[in-house]
Amino acid sequence: MTQKNNTASESEHRPRFRAGEEGILYVGIDLGTSRTSISASNGVRETIASVVGYPKDVVSRKFLQKDVLFGEEALENRLALNLFRPLEDGVIKYSDGSGASQEEVDGNLEAARALIQHAIELASPEPGQLVYGVIGCPAQASIHNKQSIIEAARDVLDSVVICSEPFSVAYGLERLHDCLVIDIGAGTTDLCRMKGAMPDEEDQLTLTVAGDFLDEQLFELFKARCPDASFTKNMVRQVKEKHAFVTEAAEPVLVTFPVRGKPVQFDVTAEMRKGCRRIIEPIVEAVDKLVSTFDPEFQERMRKNVLIAGGGSRIHGLDRAVEEALQAYGGGGVRCVQEPVYSGANGALKIAYDMPTEAWEQLR
Ligand SMILES: Nc1ncnc2c1ncn2[C@@H]1O[C@H](COP(=O)(O)OP(=O)(O)OP(=O)(O)O)[C@@H](O)[C@H]1O
Ligand SMILES: [Mg+2]
Repeated sequence: MTQKNNTASESEHRPRFRAGEEGILYVGIDLGTSRTSISASNGVRETIASVVGYPKDVVSRKFLQKDVLFGEEALENRLALNLFRPLEDGVIKYSDGSGASQEEVDGNLEAARALIQHAIELASPEPGQLVYGVIGCPAQASIHNKQSIIEAARDVLDSVVICSEPFSVAYGLERLHDCLVIDIGAGTTDLCRMKGAMPDEEDQLTLTVAGDFLDEQLFELFKARCPDASFTKNMVRQVKEKHAFVTEAAEPVLVTFPVRGKPVQFDVTAEMRKGCRRIIEPIVEAVDKLVSTFDPEFQERMRKNVLIAGGGSRIHGLDRAVEEALQAYGGGGVRCVQEPVYSGANGALKIAYDMPTEAWEQLR
């Protein structure tokens, strides 16, 4: 296996078209807070924003000519829609019975169902083909959370397996031994240590320090830097997705925000670095927690084999910065995955191929 620039080589592990069993379409689904991605055994790979919108009234229904819109199309038409982001912190919103109204619980469950259905339609199953899906969810999702994902999949999939998201990333890259996966998503950062067997509860950790947390930190830092400018968290997220970095050296990050209606340019390089660096310490502490409670014979190997996945792995220089911060804990080796968007879905598809028949939960 060749490796380039501190980046895990994974193209060899991409799911291949699965010959035979034409009656079954296998799919791996990464049902994320911000993006839902699907990888299917017919070779299709698709990704959409995890957003579902329903026209607000008869006028918007007539204008949009659709009963339901998904992803980027829903975001573009959000003013005419009742918008749902059915996933929060990687699980279906209110699926833990957190005191929300029945209407909100049902609305989010229905939106999650529609989102899974849409993802499967994007994978183009043949008429009459059965669809078997492995769905990734956060490492420490509760039984309630998992059950609600199974409910959402009930009318859409013929069989389902729910698996932990960082586990599916590691499985897809065949890093099943002495490896620690950190999946930095929007709502959660999920860590999972791989020990050559299915991870148990004590092998996994979920932090709420992830992309949304960085957006909040950057928003506050930008507000202090540009006190008279008007901007939203969404604008800050877009700047982050273009310029996020944690290195000492950097190209200047220049943003243009309106001040009393007039566009003004600001240099937010220092704020970008400072905000993004706030994710490093919580991650390193969590790595240390998982490594130090592992079998001492294998701790060294695990610390040297840390893999960062998810949208947050695109923060420029994050692998090196985590590696440097790990020096205080005895050192480490850190790499980022090559394909953050599909590494979860590809891994889930690979699990689907390898699942024995009895492990599938038959839904219909
Ligand atoms: N280039 C980038 N630099 C920094 N952050 C990025 C970049 N691209 C995407 N992100 C962030 O990554 C996060 C989304 O990552 P990902 O798609 O893995 O999340 P998700 O799977 O939808 O969320 P979760 O796993 O929490 O359910 C968002 O916070 C997004 O802003
Ligand atoms: Mg994710």
